[in-house]
This record gives sequence, structure tokens and C-alpha cells, in this order.
Amino acid sequence: MKIACIGGGPAGLYFAISMKLRNPAHEVEIFERNAPGVTFGWGVVFSDLTVDNITRNDPVSAAAITGELAHWDDIDVHIRGETITSGGHGFIGIGRKRLLEILQDRARELGVALHFEAECDPADAKWQVYDLVIASDGLNSRFRNANPQAFGVDTDVRQNKFIWLGTNKAFDAFTFAFEETEHGWIWAHAYRFAPDCSTFIVECSEEVWRAFGFDEMEQAETIAVCERLFAKYLDGHSLMSNAAHLRGSAAWLNFPRIKCERWASGNVILLGDAAHTAHFSIGSGTKLALEDAIKLADVLNRDGLSLAAALDEYQAERNLEVLKLQNSARNSTEWFETLDRYLHFEPLQFAYSLLTRSQRISHENLRLRDREWLEGVERWFWKRATAGQSNKTAPPMFAPLKLRELEVANRITVSPMAMYSAEDGVPNDFHFVHYGERALGGAGLLFTEMTCVSPDGRISPGCTGLWNAEQATQWTRIVDFVHANSAAKICLQLGHSGPKGSTKLGWEGNDVPLDDGNWPVMAASDVPWSPANQVPRPMTRADMDAVRDEFVAAVRLCIDCGFDMVELHAAHGYLLSSFITPLQNKRTDDYGGSLDNRLRYPLEVFAAMRAAWPGDKPMSVRISATDWAGDNGVTPDEAVAIGEAFAREGADLIDVSAGQTWAEQQPVYGRMFQTPFSDKVRNEGRLATMAVGNIYEPDHANSILAAGRADLVALARPHLIDPMWTLRAAAQLDYRDIHIPPQYLNGMSQLARNLKREAEMAAALRV
Ligand SMILES: Cc1cc2nc3c(=O)[nH]c(=O)nc-3n(C[C@H](O)[C@H](O)[C@H](O)COP(=O)(O)OP(=O)(O)OC[C@H]3O[C@@H](n4cnc5c(N)ncnc54)[C@H](O)[C@@H]3O)c2cc1C
Ligand SMILES: Cc1cc2nc3c(=O)[nH]c(=O)nc-3n(C[C@H](O)[C@H](O)[C@H](O)COP(=O)(O)O)c2cc1C
Repeated sequence: MKIACIGGGPAGLYFAISMKLRNPAHEVEIFERNAPGVTFGWGVVFSDLTVDNITRNDPVSAAAITGELAHWDDIDVHIRGETITSGGHGFIGIGRKRLLEILQDRARELGVALHFEAECDPADAKWQVYDLVIASDGLNSRFRNANPQAFGVDTDVRQNKFIWLGTNKAFDAFTFAFEETEHGWIWAHAYRFAPDCSTFIVECSEEVWRAFGFDEMEQAETIAVCERLFAKYLDGHSLMSNAAHLRGSAAWLNFPRIKCERWASGNVILLGDAAHTAHFSIGSGTKLALEDAIKLADVLNRDGLSLAAALDEYQAERNLEVLKLQNSARNSTEWFETLDRYLHFEPLQFAYSLLTRSQRISHENLRLRDREWLEGVERWFWKRATAGQSNKTAPPMFAPLKLRELEVANRITVSPMAMYSAEDGVPNDFHFVHYGERALGGAGLLFTEMTCVSPDGRISPGCTGLWNAEQATQWTRIVDFVHANSAAKICLQLGHSGPKGSTKLGWEGNDVPLDDGNWPVMAASDVPWSPANQVPRPMTRADMDAVRDEFVAAVRLCIDCGFDMVELHAAHGYLLSSFITPLQNKRTDDYGGSLDNRLRYPLEVFAAMRAAWPGDKPMSVRISATDWAGDNGVTPDEAVAIGEAFAREGADLIDVSAGQTWAEQQPVYGRMFQTPFSDKVRNEGRLATMAVGNIYEPDHANSILAAGRADLVALARPHLIDPMWTLRAAAQLDYRDIHIPPQYLNGMSQLARNLKREAEMAAALRV
């Protein structure tokens, strides 16, 4: 094949090498606009895995690269005069310039033709004579941008400003240095890539950047300011730019996240940064470029594979890897963009939050890297959870939490889940066993399903209620069992279905109206949940009074039942949520329009409940932190204001759920997918929160809690299948100080022994 590679960066060079290695008969030429030795940037970092991959692909260039790699293990986080050092991170780095020299030499040796100072124009007819044109021309790829529709380019320019500098100060650890200045916070990411050279990236928000006047400075002045700001880390060394030709503030960049729907069009194939980018804070751009190159060379040289099939396989496999990294990179980017949220953390927790920001590194991962450090974090967590009373070194999920006078034994909760199994709202034997079993399973706090305040407030004929004495008697039986046989506390979730009422049991069809026996529904406005659902009656003031009083009456019964806590359900599109979301609330009176107005009635209900509920017992509220409808619905920013408003009325915990507020929602699912909302509400609103949504591993729970992303962690579906989730986690993590029903003690110790033996065998096999 006759191939032109546009751009002699890592992608183009390594692809050319990989093609020649597979078939020396390929004619490969590289066209690079710069002269040899002229490049942007300083060092690049790799993982051990990347080194394995390039060693398998080309042992010769890999040997040259690994021979020059700088290694380091520690990460230092400097903040507020403290340095938090954790170890075991295992980085390897090399200078970009040196990497390119090695790859250029290897390419030449294999017969690749290298043309320098060759600016390439995609419109040039000469590209037609090549079988393939590899657009390895970097993130600003002219070859991609000449035809953006063909590649389906999606560019997201991120908020923060950064400048890529270098220094001769040799940092022994990967260093994050956060400095508070008269204009706000600014920070550096620094790492050594050669014995006497380190990368030094300075980053800040656009606001701080402008406040410093960086937008009007020439590079030399910018560098002088950065040297002054970070003097204590530089030990007298200066900062250097290798983009000195750039005038004014042009050396400062905003990171563009690039995705492409298609990686090939005609004879042009995208490779490396031209196809995708991953934020520099997870240091994976060069790794992706090299691995793309290996894969593309593989498929192009596989016998019997057509070009079209080869390109399909190249994109399908590489895109999966890229999407995973871009996901982590997005988390990491957003962490730095929302840094203000975490600056009030104590330095140790701040460092933990920083290390786990991409969600690729978890609690147990950190234990493997640096057990002693992680145990220090655990001790810190327990000390704070117990107001200095405990010196325990144990997983955060087992630490207690105090809400008003209620002591919750640990941080795992059973999330509210409708069971659709009651008749006339009366809990029965099913509920007795269901809740009893889950209380025995070790969770610190058990939420009941949405229990309705009136017959018409039910979602389905199978929903539980609390409006009469019979219901109260049956709930009391459950509460008494929980209190007598477990350490769990129990919270009643109270709600009214509003526009989503009068529907079938969950497993007969979600939100589908009853075939017969429907009852009239009401809501903030006459907006039906879907075309198939009833048009609700907009609530009058008299309706509002009546429903508010029903909530208060239920709270009074709840006191009689002995519940430890009450939650108001103001999420998921039910009655109170229909006031909060602008997608359902079309009122023009004092209860519609602005967020204050939309919150007025839900807050009134909450305040009336709070007044009826004992002052020493806590209350929570469940909210949908987003309508998954962009700016047309409730936004995460509004969720903070909603949480704050309920907290002012006496809410002790915000149960941060999301969505289900309109039928057309566009949720973004994934592991722990709603936790970012809890993080935001907790740390911007400084409120206690509960996170929920696809949290299923003890490791998830511990990472969320230690990073200060929530105070409690709720699991719903995992508890349906495994009521003993918390006890199982305790056995897995070898934690013994948890209430185990005496009847089950034998089973618990056997499980713990077996899990320990399995872990030891797995460790022995790894060695
Ligand atoms: C601040 C910062 C820090 C980074 N840190 C790391 C890190 O630690 N680790 C890591 O792995 N990655 C890092 N990266 C990313 C890394 O630099 C890129 O992901 C990687 O270089 C991608 O390789 P590439 O060959 O696709 O593109 P590039 O390295 O950008 O190479 C493209 C080449 O094409 C040439 N070119 C462009 N247009 C033309 C044209 N029209 N004609 C001729 N030649 C052309 C350019 O001169 C360039 O040499 C970082 C990036 C930034 C911005
Ligand atoms: C069967 C079922 C019933 C549910 N019923 C309720 C409910 O009554 N009240 C409520 O607030 N959320 C309810 N939810 C939502 C859960 O509490 C939880 O927010 C959601 O399932 C996401 O958590 P998970 O990924 O751990 O399942 C229900 C979920 C399920 C699966």
C-alpha cells in the first residue's frame, strides 16, 4: 500500500513503524509541518500496560523508550500549607521531544520516508495518489476539519485555562500544587520526565485568569507571574515555554474534548488526537495515539479482511477504549472545573477526592497502592464521624452518622422501593417479611416504599398508605420487629402520586392507567404524565390545604407507629415534584413560574410536617436533581437551591435522586450515575446528602463516602436480590463490629472465613 501520514507526532510515526514491521513492502511517507526537534509540550506519561503493548508491537523502539523512562511512585498534594503524600501510583514518563526522536530514528531505519517542514493542505490533489491518507495531524486536524460532516465531529471546549510549561526543577513526586491568591485559586500539575526536566502545567478558571490579567499579558510576563506564584515549589528554578513564538495570551489554552462518529471517510483515516482527545489531567493522549496506531496497522495487514471491514473493526474496538477513557477524563476535567466545591475539605480528604476524581481509582485501589495512607484516611473519617470518639481504622461505610438525636449505625441504606403488594393501603405479611429481612441484613437505615397519604394519593391499588388506624397497626408491627431484632433505624417515605396516580402495579406496566376503576388525579397543572394518562385537575388552594393536612395527619400516625425518621417524596414527577419541575408546572399564580414560586407549596407541606414531627427526630426530602431535560427542566444548579430551601425548613438530609419527572427524559446511565448530583448538592450547598443510583459494590460506597460525595449511600435494586448486602460487605471487608442477628452468627463467620481463604488463594495465584 502507498500511504501518507499527515503529521509526525506519536500517532503518525508509530503507525508508520507498525506498518513497516508488518509488511516492509508498504510505501509509507510522513509529512510533518515542523522541523525535526521542534515540538510543543514537555513530558508524556505512560502506564505499565502501554509499555507492555508497545513492547509486544516493536521491542526495538520499546527498549529505547523504556531505557529512558523516568519512574516515580508518589503523588504530593500541596494545599493550605500542608503536603499530603500517597505512594504506590507507579508513573513512567519521557520527554515528548525524546520520544519523537526515538520514533523518527526507528521509522527511518525501517524505510519510512520522513518529510519535515511540509505543511499539508487537504485540498491538494496529490493526496489522491495515495491508497490511504492517515490524518495523524493532532487535535486541530486540518484533514478532519476540511470535512467535519463526514467524520461527525463533536467538539466540547472546556472551561478552564491552562498553559503547558517546563522547568529544570526535578520533582520527585507527581505534584499537584494549589495556591490561594488575591484573585482566587490557581494550581499546577508537575511531573518529572527526565533527570533534570519536569512538565509544569498551570491551570485556573477563566475568571481567575482574567482577574490576573493573563488575557492581556505576553508569555514572558505570564511566566514571571507563575514563577512568583509557585516559587516555593520551584526552588529557584525558572519556568520555560517551548511555544515562545505564540504572541499575547495564545499560549494559554482551553482543552477541547473531541469525539468523532466516523473515523474514516474516502481514503482518509483519523488517528490519535485527530480522532479523539482525553483531558491532559489523566495523561492518556499519547497512549491512545500509540494504541490506535497498533490496532490500525493490525487490521490493515490482516489477510482476508476487506478495507471496509478492517476500518469498522479499527473504529469499533478503539472507540470503546476511547469512550471509557473520555468518560474518566470528563470526570477528572469537571473535578478541576468545580474545584471551589472541594476547597473547604480538610487537606487529607481533599487529596482523596483529587485521587479518586476520575472514578477509575477507588478506595480499594488506593489500599493496594498505599495501605498505610488509606488507613490514615479511614481513621480520619471515623474520627470525624464520631466527633473524635473513635480511633478505628475501618471502611467508611461502617461509620455511624448522627442526624439530630438519631444514631444511624452505618452509612448503607435500603432505598425506598414500592412493592405494589398492599390492599387498601394496608401493609401485610409480605411487607412484614420484606422489611424485616432487609433490617436483619445489616443496613443502618431502612426506607419504606412511598407510602401514600390518601387513597387517591396512591400510585396503584397495591401501594401502602398511612391514613387510618389499621394501616398504622400494621406499620407498628413492622417497626417493632425492626427495632427488636436489628440495629437498623426505619424511615417512612410519605408521598402523593399526583399526575402519576391511578396506574397499574409496577410489573403490569409502569405508569400505565388502570383498565378500570380509575380515580381522578390532580397535579400542579393540567399536564398529563403521557398522552395515555389522565389529564390531572390543577390543584385549587382548597386542594392544597387538604393534601397538606393529609401529610400532617400521616406524620402524626407515623409518630404513633414509632418510626425513627420521615422522608417527604418530592421527586420523580409525583404530586410535589409536579410543582417543582417547570415541565409539569404551568401555573401563573404564586405557585408557578420562578423556582421560589414552584417550591412554595412543597415547602409549605414540608414545614407543616416538620412542625408535627418531634424536634429531636430527623426528616429528609427526596428530590430529582435534574429533569434530564437540559435548561428546559430542573437543572443541577437549581437542585442545590432546592436542597437549601428544604434545609431552611428543617430537612436534615437531602436524598438526591434524579429524573422520572417527565416521560421524555434523556438520562445518562452508568455506574454511580447520580452521585455527581449528590456531590454537587452536598458540597455547594454544604448539606448532608444521600447518594443513590447504580451503586452496587462496597468499594463504590466507601469511595463515595471518603471522597465526601455523600453522607449516606442508598441501594435499591441490589437489596431486592440480596437483603443481606451490608452483612455480606462486612464479611468481604473483614469488618466484625456490626450487628449480626445471633441466629445468623454461624453463617456470617463461615462466609468471612471462605471469602478470606478465596482472597488469599487469588493473591497467591497472582504472585
Ligand atoms: C497540556 C497537555 C499535556 C499533555 N500531557 C500528556 C501526557 O502526559 N501524556 C500523554 O500521553 N499525552 C499528553 N498530552 C496529549 C498528547 O500530547 C497527545 O494526545 C498526543 O501527542 C497525540 O498524538 P498525535 O500524534 O495524535 O498528535 P500530535 O502529537 O499533536 O501530533 C500531530 C502532528 O501533526 C503535525 N501537523 C498538524 N497539522 C499538520 C499539517 N497540516 N501538515 C503537516 N503536519 C501537521 C503537528 O505539527 C504535530 O507534529 C497532553 C496534551 C496537552 C495539551
Ligand atoms: C421496584 C422499585 C420501586 C421503587 N419505588 C420507589 C419508591 O417508592 N420511592 C422512591 O423514592 N423511589 C423508588 N424507587 C427508586 C429507588 O429508590 C432508587 O432511587 C432507584 O432504583 C435507583 O437506585 P438503584 O440503582 O440502587 O436501584 C424504586 C425503585 C425500584 C427498582
